[in-house]
Amino acid sequence: MTDDTDTKTEPHGFARGLTNYGDRRFSLYLRRSFAASMGYSREMLDRPIVGIAHSASGFNNCHRHFPEMIEAVKRGVLAAGALPVEFPTISLGEVFLSPTSLKFRNLMSMDVEEMVRAQPMDSVVLLGGCDKTVPAQLMGAASADLPAIQLVAGPMSTSRHRGERLGACTDCRRFWQRYRAGSVDDAGIDAVEKRLASTSGTCAVMGTASTMASIAEALGMMPAGAAAIPAVDADRLRMAEETGRIAVELIGRNDRRPSAIMTKEAFENALRILLALGGSTNAVVHLAAIMGRLSLPFDFARMNELSETTPVLVDLKPTGEAYMEDLYAAGGIPAVMRELRHLLHLNVRTISGETIGERIDAADPWVDRSIVRPLEDPIRPNGGLVALFGNLAPRGAIIKRSAADPNLFEREGRAVVFTSLADLAERIDDPELDVHADDFLVLQNAGPTSEAAMPEAGYLPIPAKLAKAGVKDMVRMSDARMSGTAYGTIVLHIAPDAASGGPLGLVRSGDRIRLSVANRALELLVPAQELERRRAEGAARPETPQATRGYARLYDQHILQADEGCDFDFLRAQPAEATKPDGR
Ligand code: FES
Repeated sequence: MTDDTDTKTEPHGFARGLTNYGDRRFSLYLRRSFAASMGYSREMLDRPIVGIAHSASGFNNCHRHFPEMIEAVKRGVLAAGALPVEFPTISLGEVFLSPTSLKFRNLMSMDVEEMVRAQPMDSVVLLGGCDKTVPAQLMGAASADLPAIQLVAGPMSTSRHRGERLGACTDCRRFWQRYRAGSVDDAGIDAVEKRLASTSGTCAVMGTASTMASIAEALGMMPAGAAAIPAVDADRLRMAEETGRIAVELIGRNDRRPSAIMTKEAFENALRILLALGGSTNAVVHLAAIMGRLSLPFDFARMNELSETTPVLVDLKPTGEAYMEDLYAAGGIPAVMRELRHLLHLNVRTISGETIGERIDAADPWVDRSIVRPLEDPIRPNGGLVALFGNLAPRGAIIKRSAADPNLFEREGRAVVFTSLADLAERIDDPELDVHADDFLVLQNAGPTSEAAMPEAGYLPIPAKLAKAGVKDMVRMSDARMSGTAYGTIVLHIAPDAASGGPLGLVRSGDRIRLSVANRALELLVPAQELERRRAEGAARPETPQATRGYARLYDQHILQADEGCDFDFLRAQPAEATKPDGR
């Protein structure tokens, strides 16, 4: 028997990372005999291995076409001379998880990291798509730091309902708002329910999934043009085949490891794209988490600088009119990058070997200007997101100004406080609720350290009595997140959160709050002495009990705030001198 473990070169394929039986040759012999039981020939067993980490699940509608995509990735791997081996990881189907998918993103990242480390593979293809799966895979890949390439599910196609074009999930919210206001009846909302998501793929608008897909492409972790191809289009299968081929090229290349691709400059490029897309606020949390895995701090002040010089160019819902399939037809992310060319770091190397500049040069120059606007005629002159600071958000908060009403940007308002999601559900539609259109709705205890684990509940509904009177938007704020498909004048991710003792928890109904998007400020207009008195009063109350076991305990003990990406403290990169040779 040949013994790959004795060679001076790094062992590859099934000879990597052997199970420890105290006899390496026995370990390899045993592994090969078990692998042979799956029907592999000896020629296949000797090939390098490309792992295919996928997140298909019966609880994830967005990934239901993965079997077909996996076959296409395998074709590419086999044609390039390696052996493809697929393996499942945790899947995070956005609407199927309680209390919220974010709670399990770190769990999935650990699954990806550990299975990439523990199983014998020379490079890995990461197949994700639904909101949290893409950042979870990038976080895990960054920590494992084996050459990796990502490919996403691609967006759903739109459908029609009585002549109206529908796509999840901005239209979900639009119809639900009409239903709450009484202009759509029970039969109408039932009919719409069946038409909102009618193909496989991720939400059809520039929600979190599409934003993260675009970011993965802008970071250089996906092939050029891969983000926007519709899930059901044959081009996606061709892209999957190409991804498999590239994954073979990555083998043994230290310059293609995630840490070599996802550099500070690559993250700045990704931020520019996020801002130009008017992308999801959730991306800020995920970018901070991925960067934390690579010892790169997320700088909110820098994000605000970039936001001032990056126009919104893409006219997609929820900030605009079109859908992801339109962006694909318009030229996709390469068309957006070409427009931003002078603002990007063009020499950044991508996973497929070329630089960002070379990718832009190689892309088809045709562009549909109704979807991707020219720099001289943007949708907004500045970026979609800004960070706010002040005594109410000492570690920052986020507002998506491209999805908000500018008339509400410079305001002082009276706080109407909801102390929890349960309190919100109980009182928001109470006809007796003391609330006016110019009040600020404040939700507490929905941040990362709360029982709710930072759900997408920051899109507080307009109180029913105001919605029926025609109010469409109000200033709303919380330590929660918001779906990337939602819109409104909504301040999110207030850090530190209320449950960890942040000042948001000290707000009382009737307090005055000042919001100034121009000054990036969020101030609670209550004297410091009074805030101290409230803090002391709060400290006297019994603490919320922590989970005693399992993942929930890990979460309670280690979750970080939004400005650190809601990662676990022990998963972030540690100083080299403090870690073992494998970086842990
Ligand atoms: Fe999967 Fe929206 S539910 S992307």
